[in-house]
Amino acid sequence: MSARIQPSILAADFVNLEADVVRIATADAVHVDVMDNHFVPNLTFGPQMVGRLQAVASIPLDVHLMISDVDRWAPGYAELGVFSVTFHAEATDAPVALARRLREIGARAGIAVKPGTALEPYLELLPEFDQVLVMTVEPGFGGQGFMADMMPKVAAARAAIDAAGIDVWLQVDGGIALDTIGQAAEAGADTFVAGSAVYGAADVETAIADLRAAAERHAH
Ligand code: DX5
Ligand code: ZN
Repeated sequence: MSARIQPSILAADFVNLEADVVRIATADAVHVDVMDNHFVPNLTFGPQMVGRLQAVASIPLDVHLMISDVDRWAPGYAELGVFSVTFHAEATDAPVALARRLREIGARAGIAVKPGTALEPYLELLPEFDQVLVMTVEPGFGGQGFMADMMPKVAAARAAIDAAGIDVWLQVDGGIALDTIGQAAEAGADTFVAGSAVYGAADVETAIADLRAAAERHAH
């Protein structure tokens, strides 16, 4: 398996975002955290900034919406031409209808669950999605500790994806670093978001390569 590494620009320099996206050109995608100060107690940026990132980035944009009212707002992000749009299951009553809309616009559709949200009700919906995100921290902030107790949830998602024989990426986000990525890969994750572990490293390119190698060593 080849592990996908997606650095999170939440840990980048917000007044030098273009330069910080160029620095991670060897990554598989750039993870873009959109927060509205309502769904989570933190605020980042909206579609205007994501549109500019889409214009300057040489790698795909993986947009992670930590916002409420996704039925209203998520399609606008897909319309920017980004590669992938992930919304939280907790933020909509109609996840399948929204996923269909996002795919129709041309984006990959992702569904995310917070640590306290059970994944079971969503497993049968996975054929409607391209990606499922199991949060390994409480969403809102970078630099938090990895929640190893989420690994059974990752394993359950892996089992459901394999049983259905579908090509759904299994993403983890939060506290992913050299000492934790192996556990997540062993549980079945194939797509890894890392903020501080990449942007906090002395050499960003080496950090990306080391994370990828560590994940692949522990992959199924
Ligand atoms: C947290 C965000 C993450 C965050 C991860 O709510 O969704 O993408 O940037 O940061 P680290 O890798 O530092 O835990
Ligand atoms: Zn994220």
